[in-house]
Amino acid sequence: MLRRVALALLAVAAAGPAFGQAYPNKPINLIVPFAAGGPTDVMARIVGERMAKELGQQFVIDNVTGAAGSIAMGKLARSTPDGYTIGIGHLGTNVVNGAIYRNLNYDLINDLEPVALLPSNPLLVVTSNQVPAKDLKELVAYLKANADKISGGTAGLGSGSHIGALAFFAVTGTNYQLVPYRGTGPAVQDLIANQIQVMIDQSSNSLPHIRAGKLKVYAVTAKQRTAAAPDIPTTAEAGFPGIEVAIWHGLWAPKGTPKEIIDKLNAAAVKALQDPEIRGKLENLGQDIPTPEQMKADAFGTYQKAEFAKWKPIIDKAGVKVE
Ligand code: MLT
Repeated sequence: MLRRVALALLAVAAAGPAFGQAYPNKPINLIVPFAAGGPTDVMARIVGERMAKELGQQFVIDNVTGAAGSIAMGKLARSTPDGYTIGIGHLGTNVVNGAIYRNLNYDLINDLEPVALLPSNPLLVVTSNQVPAKDLKELVAYLKANADKISGGTAGLGSGSHIGALAFFAVTGTNYQLVPYRGTGPAVQDLIANQIQVMIDQSSNSLPHIRAGKLKVYAVTAKQRTAAAPDIPTTAEAGFPGIEVAIWHGLWAPKGTPKEIIDKLNAAAVKALQDPEIRGKLENLGQDIPTPEQMKADAFGTYQKAEFAKWKPIIDKAGVKVE
């Protein structure tokens, strides 16, 4: 009898705090695939802080940079599926990288669990203040005439800013040197300093600098103007139809993370994006906020797969790949 009680106690001890204590009972690591201060990091901090309030545990930001976010997603895929490590990513890190990086040692669909779709933001065509063009047509002519002198910033092959540059090149016929950074946070600082001259950047990253008069903007890569900056024309209005790209973000967990934990995280994300203060902050940065229906984990998983089917042929046709 005594021996059975002892064994039962041992099992409880071995099961550790999780057993009988509701999730979460300790801080949650949130892996961010790009440098601090950039659009993905800013969204992680805004949404993460509000989710932490819902869940009663802090979110610890872990910036894991390099290879356009593919290193970070590898770390997430190898993490323990206990709900204490999750990751934020986007169209680039969790779709396009799957088409570009041919030797990823993990599978973006089968090794990661979709948790929630997060906001998306269109891209802005921006330059340093030293670039003399006054509208998009003049900018395209200037970029063509000075192609050997111009550098554009991206967050690496497969990043949102790279996807934007590819779409911009394809429609405008420009082609300038691309300089990879660990994120568009540091890249936009070099743009302001005219170390590089042009970026196709997420609106949430550039808008504050445009408002401060530190950057020039020419167009937004969307069908409609963004409510956060209604004076910026669409690429079609500016003379180049066909450049419509928005970078959507999302949350993922390692495969095998229990469904009840995914559901709890999803509910906290939905609550966070229903909060008027959070919505105000994100919309002011040009972010479009999904509905709770769109945010659902299974709906998000289906959306991710559909994006894969859409982008793989585009990337293959562009011939962009890393062996
Ligand atoms: C970042 O946070 O730096 C961006 O999401 C990078 C990118 O994809 O352009």
